[in-house]
Amino acid sequence: MSKDLHEEGFTEQTKVKLELFSRYLRNALPVFFQQFKRFVVADLFAGPGEDRNGHDGSPAIIVSALRYHQDLLSQTNVEVVVFLNDKDGSDCAKLRAKVNVWEVELPKIKFIVQNEDAANVFPILTNVLRAPGTASLVFLDQYGVKFVTPERFKTMVETSFCDLMFFVASSYVKRFPEEFGPLFGITVEEIGSTAHEAIHRLICESYETRTQQNSNAHVTGFTINKGKSIYGLVFMTHHLLGLQKFLDACWKIDPDEGASSKGDSADDGLSLSLFGESELVPEKVLSFRRDLKDLILKTPKLTERDVVKFTIKSGMLGKHARPIIDELLKKGFIHDMSFTLKTVDSRDPKILRKVTTIG
Ligand SMILES: C[S@@+](CC[C@H](N)C(=O)[O-])C[C@H]1O[C@@H](n2cnc3c(N)ncnc32)[C@H](O)[C@@H]1O
Repeated sequence: MSKDLHEEGFTEQTKVKLELFSRYLRNALPVFFQQFKRFVVADLFAGPGEDRNGHDGSPAIIVSALRYHQDLLSQTNVEVVVFLNDKDGSDCAKLRAKVNVWEVELPKIKFIVQNEDAANVFPILTNVLRAPGTASLVFLDQYGVKFVTPERFKTMVETSFCDLMFFVASSYVKRFPEEFGPLFGITVEEIGSTAHEAIHRLICESYETRTQQNSNAHVTGFTINKGKSIYGLVFMTHHLLGLQKFLDACWKIDPDEGASSKGDSADDGLSLSLFGESELVPEKVLSFRRDLKDLILKTPKLTERDVVKFTIKSGMLGKHARPIIDELLKKGFIHDMSFTLKTVDSRDPKILRKVTTIG
């Protein structure tokens, strides 16, 4: 299967998946560089580095994101480790040849290349990720879904500042519920009664449930449609800002909903904006804005952090909330606020409302 993928060239859904991975990495690297002593990016199903047409595979995408932030990297003391693994000897040899070149180009970066079954390297990797002051991103491509057993998922949820991204062929789950259901903690009946296109969301919800022992962990996903087949990327992070960086990448790929790669028809889900007659705003955004306004008006002790959390957990970005913040600010109901790391991490989050009763 891997040989086909790299020798035949990447499919459209592979390209979307890799674009999302690339955009997320570029968005998130500055945070990792500035906030941590060490950043480890691990790609356990790394492949040879590129397809036959020279398209960058995940290892080359990691290097390109690091290259992009090279100036920032040189200004910080962060130690960056790129941990690449593939069990196929010939893929791994091709990858090692590429790494030899990258090591010369990026001497500050430590590359580790392993030729193992991912199951064997996982315990070693876990120890690396648990070192104090370490943030990490684990990318599990293609075969990742079977690899992410409930025990391994728990291990990563329990590892501070570990982000995880993996690929799910949602269509397979629908076709083989007995095999995949137990992996996700979903019953065969639940899979049977869930629409084909909603399977991926069901999977994300199941993972989200399993993070509940750790209130800092969040799960979301992105759907990749290809004809009747549906694929998905599941993303788990330990910080709201990590979720925001991932959502930012999703909204770049799907400007209407930030949720899937399918090219909806131009009018789908779009309503006339309340904020400018000529501007078309997707229904999902309008509905979020109505809910946010309701929340702010009905909750006197709502903090700025609550607003950021509500926005990001709704799959939205600060720019989607901004018109409501501006409207209520203009009416004198609230203080102004920003959607930054400072707002999220503040030890003493500010109450948003200026007045206690609004009528
Ligand atoms: C889809 S390809 C990798 C694609 C790669 N992420 C990229 O973007 O180019 C999947 C890779 O996983 C490797 N693989 C499959 N099962 C594995 C396992 N159990 N442990 C480690 N590698 C595995 C295959 O050899 C193959 O190179």
